[in-house]
Amino acid sequence: MKITVMKTEHDFDIAAAWRIIGQMLEKPSAVIGLSTGQTTKNMHRIVSDIYKEYPFDTSKVTIFNVDELTNLDRSYPGSCYTMIYEQIIRNLGISDENFLMPPTFSDDFDVECTKFENALQERGGADLQMLGIGWNGHIGINQPGTPFERHTWVSPMDPIFEEKVRRETKVPDDYPLGGLTRGIVDIMQTRKIVLIAKGESKAEIIEKAVRGPVTTDIPASVIQLHPNCEVLLDVAAASRL
Ligand code: GLP
Repeated sequence: MKITVMKTEHDFDIAAAWRIIGQMLEKPSAVIGLSTGQTTKNMHRIVSDIYKEYPFDTSKVTIFNVDELTNLDRSYPGSCYTMIYEQIIRNLGISDENFLMPPTFSDDFDVECTKFENALQERGGADLQMLGIGWNGHIGINQPGTPFERHTWVSPMDPIFEEKVRRETKVPDDYPLGGLTRGIVDIMQTRKIVLIAKGESKAEIIEKAVRGPVTTDIPASVIQLHPNCEVLLDVAAASRL
């Protein structure tokens, strides 16, 4: 596992953006997995800015997000579809066909999970996953305790994030919210993983994920077992390493 520490948050954003651009330039038909959240907002903007200034062929690039909220309309500004569409897809002129996202509503999410994985496989599997990490070590939406061999599924969300979504969407307390997420075993099949984190608030969980034992208590610790993984941090997130 390679650990890269950038001096400032801005340097981190730029370095992370270049991991995405670099993959697209290296392999014009790359299949790239993104993550939503505060960590990735600026890097997605920088990718868009670089593309605007120095456009290149994106017609064969496939983009997907590692997870998506279920049972909420895609038009909810917090849906992964909307965030990734606004932050990247429309700016890079990626076609609808090459933006792979599972639906947010379905009568049978098991079927949707299989369809999503099959669609990725049909394109040769994921080349790169820019992987965020949650405060409790979750990756995608896989929470602590998720078996590493779990395939793509609908997972409960972490309680803090769920609270935020419920507040924003005003859904009733008993409304079934969840997240369709690539399973840990599927994420691990990605040819290259870049685990990304910035800010002091991520320092402790990064220490656990990178230096602690590989355990389902900290889902992100599984990346220690990946043959081609980079952990990209700013100094604040790396402060306990
Ligand atoms: C959510 C997303 C994850 C993301 C995590 C971290 O749970 N589903 O994919 O990695 O948030 O978000 P942030 O970057 O805002 O800390």
